[in-house]
Amino acid sequence: MRVLHRFFLPSLLLLTTTFAIAQQNSSDIDSKVDALLKQMTLEEKAGQLTQLAGKTPESLQAIREGKVGSLLGVLGADNANEAQRAAVEHSRLKIPLILGFDVIHGYRTVFPVPIASTGSFDMPLLEQAERVAAKEATASGVKWVFAPMLDIARDPRWGRIVEGIGEDPYLGSRVAAAKVRGFQGKSIADPDSVVACAKHYVAYGAAEGGRDYNTVDISEQLLREIYLPPFKGAVDAGIGTFMSSFQDLNGIPGVANHHTLTDILRDEWKFNGFVVSDWGAVHELLAHGFATDDADAAAKSIKAGVDMDMVDNAFEHIPELVRSGKLPESVVDEAVRRVLRVKFEAGLFEHPYADPKREKTDILTPENLQVARKLAQESMVLLQNKSEVLPLAKTKTVAVIGPLADDKASQLGPWAGNGQAIDAVSPLEGIVGKIGKEHVLYAKGVGIPSFEGGLGAGVASPAPPSATGVKGIANTNKPSSIDDAVAAANKADVVVLFLGELAGMTGEASSRASLDFPGDQLKLANAVLATKKPVVLVVESGRPLDIRWATYHTQAILQAWFPGVQAGNAIANILFGDASPSGRLAISWPRTLGEIPIYYNHRATGRPSSPDRWHTGYLDLPNTALFPFGFGLTYSKFSYSHLAVKTPTIAPDGSLEVTADVENTGSREATEVVQLYVHDRVGLTSRPVRELKGFERVTLRPGERKTVDFSVKANDLGSYDPQMHWVVNSGTYDVWVAPDSASGVAGTFEVK
Ligand code: NOJ
Repeated sequence: MRVLHRFFLPSLLLLTTTFAIAQQNSSDIDSKVDALLKQMTLEEKAGQLTQLAGKTPESLQAIREGKVGSLLGVLGADNANEAQRAAVEHSRLKIPLILGFDVIHGYRTVFPVPIASTGSFDMPLLEQAERVAAKEATASGVKWVFAPMLDIARDPRWGRIVEGIGEDPYLGSRVAAAKVRGFQGKSIADPDSVVACAKHYVAYGAAEGGRDYNTVDISEQLLREIYLPPFKGAVDAGIGTFMSSFQDLNGIPGVANHHTLTDILRDEWKFNGFVVSDWGAVHELLAHGFATDDADAAAKSIKAGVDMDMVDNAFEHIPELVRSGKLPESVVDEAVRRVLRVKFEAGLFEHPYADPKREKTDILTPENLQVARKLAQESMVLLQNKSEVLPLAKTKTVAVIGPLADDKASQLGPWAGNGQAIDAVSPLEGIVGKIGKEHVLYAKGVGIPSFEGGLGAGVASPAPPSATGVKGIANTNKPSSIDDAVAAANKADVVVLFLGELAGMTGEASSRASLDFPGDQLKLANAVLATKKPVVLVVESGRPLDIRWATYHTQAILQAWFPGVQAGNAIANILFGDASPSGRLAISWPRTLGEIPIYYNHRATGRPSSPDRWHTGYLDLPNTALFPFGFGLTYSKFSYSHLAVKTPTIAPDGSLEVTADVENTGSREATEVVQLYVHDRVGLTSRPVRELKGFERVTLRPGERKTVDFSVKANDLGSYDPQMHWVVNSGTYDVWVAPDSASGVAGTFEVK
């Protein structure tokens, strides 16, 4: 093995178009920025770098005094315009605010949670969904979204795994690019585009023990090969802003990390937008034991590369820091320049106000809901379908059972933007809408108790139970009981059992030390299974739960995650065959807690899997995930054959060209996510056993066959050497075209 190539960083994104910030008449903007900067006092400069939460009498006064550059969480065009007027009409320099909000999986039209939608592998649809989110957000006066969330995570105990892009850096980079394109549109100056924000930079998802905000200690190689690529994908796609992360990385908190914020983000990647800290993170440097007081914390953050301070007002110390010589004014000027540049590029100086008319025409439209339904359908993962129990015939009597079957709020997931539970279609409503109430029996069975601390469903507005008129729900005062559930099951042809977590049990500050179904849900499951009726388990959760019991005892398992506002309609379409499942797992599904972390792209060890005990693994569990990354069934069957490596030997500046035949050998039209993996057999560091390098969604009719082509630049097969140079190793590589990360048809090629 010889190192062939040391020069270029990976261009992971074949489809990336840079319609960025940089391209928009930048010299013109730079001169406007400089002209404005010259007029600013130190206090006004600090103001541009300060973000406060909410529109309050105090924040409005501070805006008028030029002490605020941004507000977060101001919703509604009238509210946004009132805040904006304070800046544009009543502050000395009339610099507009940039108004930000968390639009993580939709604004009012709530999409499936990101861990789910990532598994759609459908980049055009993800882009379309973020276009919808951008239109709705801007109609409500929001010009800046704190998304996409690009944290790779290998630990489902971490509650925020639900908000992220799963475990794969290549898939994560593609998703990042699609989302940035969707949010920012053709230009961030367009009235229906928002400025996107890549967060949480970086390695937040590697929190020790899966405990939120916890310390992270990982190698530079792991950082560069696994955690950074999605962020690089966002930069390549022209993202406008970044958010630094809460946690420390190898001892340095994210908000004060010069290496990640400046050496990598600015110097290596040439990012020229601005960086905002996460909520209160500058002040938290005191708790980290990294700063003595807020002034010290402010100096450390801005010097490291943070430009705007979210809500803790620590940057109000900037003038005194400059005057006392502790902070060069040039550092402050550079941060202000970055913020002003984005404001100019976003067209805020020309069009600071939201058009209130759009709130009535652009939000929660039938077209938007259609996108939400399609994405929900494509995001669910069919994990098991014994004897093809699914899809169900519409003439069957179905017992709909379980605490999540009519929980509207949980359908929306933990970070539902401005989503309202009342807008959500519950699974029960969807099923009744599909087959008629005469075919449906409903029993909640048990509730899901919130954990200590009163975690609820995660969305503000309560929703009444559905008015489907189905037997069992009219009687809302009666406590739910397992007996009712058993009675319903006994009368039905098939049971659809909705179990999982409340949405509020996932997301920020919602780590769990168990992957169990909370409360008495398994008691309910056991009682229903004892009826011997066929059971379809639909799991709604923000993380993989321990479902080994279900693989033995239920006929089918559909992982629905939290599907969003169209949950019920999407689930019903899948269950009754009006849509065919095509979603895949964006993370390896552990058998149980003790297997964590488990991820497909682990390095080879000196003792890989073998029949004897002397290998890497456990005595009491197989050495594999319960379901591998990339896995998901359809309502048909696909065969893979004739893998052909068209380029058996490639040069470092060449490309790998591979084809394979994929045939629908089942009896229904279905969509298969065809995946390309490689393995570099011998490297300067031990390489992962497989790495995803391509994928394509392929829809085939029964009997139809397609030759699927993949092309990968040799440079994108590289890795970091121990000195952190990007290298493409010569030698033999394995390649697979596969339905998931644990199978497929294989071949080899050489890099020379
Ligand atoms: C804290 C969260 O970590 C971050 O994701 C979010 O954008 C901010 N709060 C603002 O709400």
